[in-house]
Amino acid sequence: MYKLIAFDAYGTLFDVYSMGQLAEELFPGHGQAFSVMWRDRQIDYTRLVTMSDPSSNGSKHYLPFWELTIRSLRYVCKRMGLTLTPEYEKRLMDQYAKLTGFEDSLTVLKAIKEKGLFTAILSNGSTDMLATVVNSNGLTPYLDKVVTVEEVRLFKTAPQAYALLLKEFPVKKEEILFVSSNAWDALAAKWYGFDVCWVNRLGHPFEEIGENPNYEVDSLTKVLEVI
Ligand code: LAC
Repeated sequence: MYKLIAFDAYGTLFDVYSMGQLAEELFPGHGQAFSVMWRDRQIDYTRLVTMSDPSSNGSKHYLPFWELTIRSLRYVCKRMGLTLTPEYEKRLMDQYAKLTGFEDSLTVLKAIKEKGLFTAILSNGSTDMLATVVNSNGLTPYLDKVVTVEEVRLFKTAPQAYALLLKEFPVKKEEILFVSSNAWDALAAKWYGFDVCWVNRLGHPFEEIGENPNYEVDSLTKVLEVI
């Protein structure tokens, strides 16, 4: 029996690719490619920072996820030859701050709370940006804790990041179900020792290395069937 259901944030509860619509408006013909490359570069930067100095007191290269998101935005615009005016940057980042939640995010968290289980977010996101997006989607009442890697200054997939859940909640490893739409995150959480539910909305293949997730579902709502 699980006691804590912990969710990844970006891509799992909040739709990072919803940025594509605004991007298409600002950069016609490039919205889709731009938002995929932006997301990839953002995650690349988290890995670069973490792997280049995986010290126990955090990486000396650490920058908050909000900052890495801006830097990756700037990089991708340069790489794609798109002009990022200060006004465009502000509009994109303002929208990122209040990213749209998936339609079932709220109802699923609420249903889990009603079962008497702990709920949490475990995210690479910085504290402020997570507070904003959680609030703007009305999720605050249904989350016991929003856990961020800011304290360890190492991003997922560093084990120190996943370990934060054990520090924050009075539960054992095997009592945690970690839910993520990001296959790399689901795999690393599984390697860390959590049971994992991979929310595969797009019908993608799972990673070709490591173990399969304990559960694979195609929507957050189906997570309720697992618990
Ligand atoms: C998160 C991103 C990386 O940790 O999905 O929320």
